[in-house]
Amino acid sequence: MTTSFTEPAASPLLHLLGQGVDLASERGVECTGELPAPSDPDLVERARAARAALGDSVFVLGHHYQRDEVIDFADVTGDSFKLAREAAARPDAEYIIFCGVHFMAESADILTTDAQQVILPDLAAGCSMADMARINQVEDAWDALVEAGVAEQTVPVTYMNSSAAIKAFTGRHGGTVCTSSNAQVALRWAFDQVGGADGEGKVLFLPDQHLGRNTAVLQLGIPLDQCVVFDPRRPGGGLTPQELRDARMILWRGHCSVHGRFSAQNVTDVRAAVPGVNVLVHPECKHEVVTAADYVGSTEYIVRQLEQSEPGSAWAIGTELNLVRRLARRFSDRQVHYLDSTVCFCSTMNRIDLPHLVWTMESLVAGRVPNRIEVDADDARWARVALDQMLALPGV
Ligand code: 13P
Ligand code: SF4
Repeated sequence: MTTSFTEPAASPLLHLLGQGVDLASERGVECTGELPAPSDPDLVERARAARAALGDSVFVLGHHYQRDEVIDFADVTGDSFKLAREAAARPDAEYIIFCGVHFMAESADILTTDAQQVILPDLAAGCSMADMARINQVEDAWDALVEAGVAEQTVPVTYMNSSAAIKAFTGRHGGTVCTSSNAQVALRWAFDQVGGADGEGKVLFLPDQHLGRNTAVLQLGIPLDQCVVFDPRRPGGGLTPQELRDARMILWRGHCSVHGRFSAQNVTDVRAAVPGVNVLVHPECKHEVVTAADYVGSTEYIVRQLEQSEPGSAWAIGTELNLVRRLARRFSDRQVHYLDSTVCFCSTMNRIDLPHLVWTMESLVAGRVPNRIEVDADDARWARVALDQMLALPGV
């Protein structure tokens, strides 16, 4: 008997493998050029040569979740906030190569001058959380707030991990962008626009429900039962007008698939296995994880905590694996554990590797600008309003 194998027909999911095109998504556009083979023994040398040839015309930003082979070529590493600030502070660099994900490169494009070009080495490096809030869904949610009679007392706050269109929506409606390092200040500012954290005002927080809830409850003291979750897939967000009126924090139903893996049980287990361990997590983790942890903060904060820690101290870290592995190597005289027993990379951050970086830099040397990220002018204008608001927040 003969068996035959038929290739599956093209499906919208194929873009997850870097095939096909999905321009409506934060991920899923293939590279148009010839990438060097990952096995090329000259890759590092090629990267060095291209970097040297480009000189000051290029500035390379690297998010903490990038692979080591990429971080080695970054002029600056940091969390989303630091990288946004660094991008805005380099008006002389003709090209900004953003080794991070799509929403970060969009923000860099908005914050840089028109003469500068921002490049994402692999256009398939998106963010599944950012994809969880589409502009039409957010517009519908706002209509639901209008119908419930609460839109006028609601300020939108969007996490950096969102599309430029959502940031523009936030700017148009008098809100601000925030990152994990300034969410507390951003939320206080937002509540101050509508009568303060103890008043009647509300915040619509997009798209990460966990960062929104953790910040509101643990840092602003808003009761958990005044946080409601707006599910864009259900009519009216799955909330009654009265529930919207009673809420202080309206949290979008979005999350990070990497940080969503950590559980309170992980914290219990590591405390039992490693006496005296310090549990350090990112605020995108679930509320029960953050509540059980000892320290919570952005990737830059996580790096700083390790830098300030004592030799011999023990740490269990709940964030992306590239960063935790790098910290474990850098601080080999501390005990560094991964909080979950099943370790996990951010698959989209990981798409940027040395072959993509070499291809990007060699293309520039050859006079071709690959993978330019350019935000639509109207979105850029209003997103800039929300980003500038974030950059102007007190103490940020
Ligand atoms: P940071 O701003 O803390 O670097 O976080 C970015 C991110 O995507 C975390 O998942
Ligand atoms: Fe997005 Fe999570 Fe990856 Fe950060 S770690 S880029 S939030 S999917």
